Order: sequence, then structure tokens, then C-alpha cells
Amino acid sequence: MTVLSEIGPMLVDPKAYADGSIYEAYRWLRRNDPLASIEVEGYQPFRVVTLYSDVQYVSRHNALFHSSPNPTLSPISRMKLVRELTGSTSPIKSLVDMDPPEHGKYRALTSPWFQPGNLKSLEGRIRDIAREMVERMVDARCQCDFARLVAHEFPLQVILEILGLPREDHPVMLRLTQEMFGATDPDVLGNRSATNDSASASDLGAVREMMAYFDKLTEDRRAHPTSDLASVIANARIDGEPMGHLETMGYYVITATAGHDTTSSSIGGAMWALAEHPDQFARLKADMSLLPTMIDEAIRWTTPVKHFMRTATADTEIGGRPVREGERLMLCYGSANRDESVFDDPDTFRLDRKPNRHLAFGYGGHLCLGQYLARIEMRILFEELLPRLSSLALDGEPAMTEAIFVSGPKRLPIRYEIA
Ligand code: HEM
Repeated sequence: MTVLSEIGPMLVDPKAYADGSIYEAYRWLRRNDPLASIEVEGYQPFRVVTLYSDVQYVSRHNALFHSSPNPTLSPISRMKLVRELTGSTSPIKSLVDMDPPEHGKYRALTSPWFQPGNLKSLEGRIRDIAREMVERMVDARCQCDFARLVAHEFPLQVILEILGLPREDHPVMLRLTQEMFGATDPDVLGNRSATNDSASASDLGAVREMMAYFDKLTEDRRAHPTSDLASVIANARIDGEPMGHLETMGYYVITATAGHDTTSSSIGGAMWALAEHPDQFARLKADMSLLPTMIDEAIRWTTPVKHFMRTATADTEIGGRPVREGERLMLCYGSANRDESVFDDPDTFRLDRKPNRHLAFGYGGHLCLGQYLARIEMRILFEELLPRLSSLALDGEPAMTEAIFVSGPKRLPIRYEIA
């Protein structure tokens, strides 16, 4: 892999993220052109940020590098469609689309709720859901697709429980989040073809359906507030005024979606790694104090969020290389997390990796609000599951979701014995 013209198309190709070839491209970029200028047909030109230090630097300077107007990379056709349908650059407005000073005000509305002290009170409910997941595996009689049976379901049930949504609505939400985040994957799209335009129609349709659902929920929680997160969002005030419609919807959508596929991917990634490394599986079972480092290593290893975009607000430099005002920057977390100048043996899964200052949750002002929740969910699930598993192995070919934004195992066939 030496030719930049081959790498540009890979960066926008969902298959490259699913088959892992993107890591080869990242390695070449880190060595040869760490802030490469990319021009690919159908996309606005962008720079690709691949070094750990540069991803960290850009993420830390939120006034110099804005998240608005388009925080993820989209084909020009999709951007046009969104503008036609919504009259704006984004179908919703959420924390990931906002910049200082507005961003800080909106983040403050729920940030205390997401702190470890508050989350402690939820651990009992999360453990109940984890136990249900283990029972599913017992019922599956030693063979299952772990991605479908557990990894996709568990975080969804947790986040929807926390939002306060009734159990019977969970399947709809599962479908909608998968359509939004995995909308380029043929398995998610079903009969629809995975061209850029059909993907656009699919994920926009999901956004609209979700908004209609949350409109009803807001009405209900304004009339009958409870202690759930939906009530905090529905009744939130900014500068003394009720939060706007677009922002309220954005808050629900980001919480329901960002809290789901990302954690599913990390759980699936952890199980995949343990199934592939029987020595590490045995070591972890013998010494569960390694669980926190295993969890962070699984998150680094999988890096479910492949990129977020920033736009330079002034002429500046990144790592001594000039950047012009208005240039779009693709922050490649998967590349930063395998940067050999920061991580020893970065392509190897090591459950005891320490330190492990990965950037899978981002960095700086937009640092993932749900990072503690994600770690708690994973800890509780594996605390419940690992003591019950006396053996674990892959039972066929796993597969990753084809998506350039959030991707993790969509299929993970395993064989296991229950203790
Ligand atoms: C932001 C990754 C779980 C909610 C982010 C960002 C990343 C990320 C990379 C940074 C966005 C940026 O810099 O523009 C992950 C990963 C997760 C995970 C890898 C699981 C392993 C969660 C969970 C929630 C959540 C469980 C809870 C609902 C959010 C929110 C933001 C965010 C609300 C926006 C924060 C802001 O812009 O101020 N996440 N996330 N995430 N995440 Fe997560």
C-alpha cells in the first residue's frame, strides 16, 4: 500500500472498515503522509488526521476546529438531500453538531446525570438486564451468534430503560438505530441496495421515525414528569427558556443512538478477542481484577467510532503542517489507537495493557458523555457472564458492519460451555 490515490477511496468505503484493510491504509498514512489531502469523487475534499498527537490536538481545540456544520463525513448527494428535506445541514441538532459557547450550555444539562456517582444508582437495573442476557445464552444451548443474541440487545435495553421507554418499544428502536448507523451495510438495508443515495434515504427515514416517537414522549414527560432521563431532556431549560424542538430531538437521538451501537460494538469486540485468544480468556477468568484493563483494551481494539469531522475556523497548523480556514478534517480514532509511537505492539490485543490512553471516546470538549456508562455496562455484563462460561471458541466466520462511522461485529458465532 503506497499510493495515496488508492487510499482516498478506501477511507469512504464501508467495506474497508469491515474487512480491516483500513488499518493498512492508516499505517501507510501515519508513516508517509499523516495529514494527507484527500479528494474522492462524490465527497468534498478533506484532510485525514492519523497521528495520535494530532487527533488529540485537534479534539482539544474546539474553538479553532468546529464540529458544525457536518460532524461526520457524508457524500455530497446526502448533504444535498438533507438540505432539501430539512432546510438545514443536519436533520437534527445534537451535542456533536455544536461548538462553544453553545455546546457547553447544552452539555451541562445532562453531564451531572452521566457522572459515575449518579450512575451507581443504576447498577442494580443494569445487572438485572445482564443476567437476562446470560440466561439467553444458557437457553441457546452452547452455540449462538453473540452479536445478535447479546451484544446488540444489552446496551439498547440499558439505554432505553434509562431513558424510560417501555420494553415493548425496544425492537423499534433497535431497528431505527441500526438503520441510522449501519445504513451502508447490505445486511441492515435488506433488499434495498447499498448505494449512497439509498443509504441516505434509509437513515433519514430512520431519523424522521425516531423524531415522531420522541415528540410523543416529550409531550408525555412535560405533562407527567418522572425521574428518568427523558424527563430531564423534555423539561430542560436554556437561559431560562425551554429547549428548542430541534435541540430536544437531538438530545434524545444522540442519547439513544450514541449509547447503543458503540457499546454493542465494544462488547462484541471484547468477546471476539477472548474467543480468539483462549490463553487470555483463561487468564481473565482466573483473575477478574483484570476486567477493567480488558474492557479498555477491547474498546481500543475495536474503536467503534471510526471518525468524527472538524472544520478549521482559521488558517493554522497541525503538527507543524499548514491547514487553511474552512478545511475539513477527518479524525481517525482507529489510526490514533494503533499509533506505534504511543502503543507498544498496537495490533495485538493485550488484556493487561497499561497505560492505555486510547482515544476511542474522543478527547477534549466533546469527550464522550457516556464513557463511564459504557464501561459500567461492560463490567457488569462480563462480571455476570465470565464465571458462567467454562469454555469459549469461535464457531464460524465473524463479520463486521460495513460502515464508515460506527462499526463493530454484526455476526459473531461462538461455541461455549456453561459452568
Ligand atoms: C461523544 C465514542 C458510548 C453518548 C462521543 C465521541 C466519541 C464517542 C468518539 C466524541 C465525539 C466528538 O469528538 O465529536 C463512544 C464509544 C462508546 C460510547 C466508543 C462505547 C464504547 C456512549 C454511551 C453514551 C454516549 C453509552 C450514552 C448515552 C455520547 C454523547 C456524546 C458522545 C452524548 C456527545 C458529547 C459531546 O459532543 O459533548 N462518543 N461513545 N456514548 N457520546 Fe459516546
